[in-house]
Amino acid sequence: MIDKLNFSMQTVFQLNKIEKECFGKEAWTVSNLIGEYQNEFSHLFGEVADGSIVGYVCVRIMYEEAQICNIAVFPEFRRQGIATRLLQTVEDFAKVQGCERCELEVNTANTAAVELYKKCGYDIAGTRPNFYRRTKRYATRDAYTMVKQL
Ligand SMILES: CC(C)(COP(=O)(O)OP(=O)(O)OC[C@H]1O[C@@H](n2cnc3c(N)ncnc32)[C@H](O)[C@@H]1OP(=O)(O)O)[C@@H](O)C(=O)NCCC(=O)NCCS
Repeated sequence: MIDKLNFSMQTVFQLNKIEKECFGKEAWTVSNLIGEYQNEFSHLFGEVADGSIVGYVCVRIMYEEAQICNIAVFPEFRRQGIATRLLQTVEDFAKVQGCERCELEVNTANTAAVELYKKCGYDIAGTRPNFYRRTKRYATRDAYTMVKQL
């Protein structure tokens, strides 16, 4: 079941656990996550199973554009359509907010995410060289900008 995730410290700690598991050293910290909740443009949605959040997405509604900042699913819950449902929820929400398109950046070497976005109707609109900080996770720092018209 997908829910809008309202602020509570319990929710923040659950999201931080997903972040650490999915992004390691690049994970959003507890204070990053609290910052998202304090950002009036940001909205968070999560898939909740047995009372715990197993995947989540963060979107910033910036006038005509919805910027997908982060999406992550616990490894043991992947390939079950959770990220697809989270994107659909964000797109429905963004449309109601009057957005015309969803936009995101993704590391060009992050095959799982690039394939997810393509399958969900996102097109590669451009490449941003050296967009990310250097990490051991991916061989490249380049990002694709991907866009879906709503
Ligand atoms: C990317 C991520 C969110 C996908 O979550 P998910 O819930 O497994 O995605 P879905 O089950 O909705 O997958 C939908 C489609 O995406 C593609 N896909 C997902 N994972 C894939 C993989 N490892 N390899 C290739 N394609 C993949 C497939 O086309 C899949 O459809 P299929 O299962 O019918 O083949 C998840 O792998 C993740 O949390 N990764 C780490 C965090 C991350 O990199 N986030 C993106 C930051 S931009």
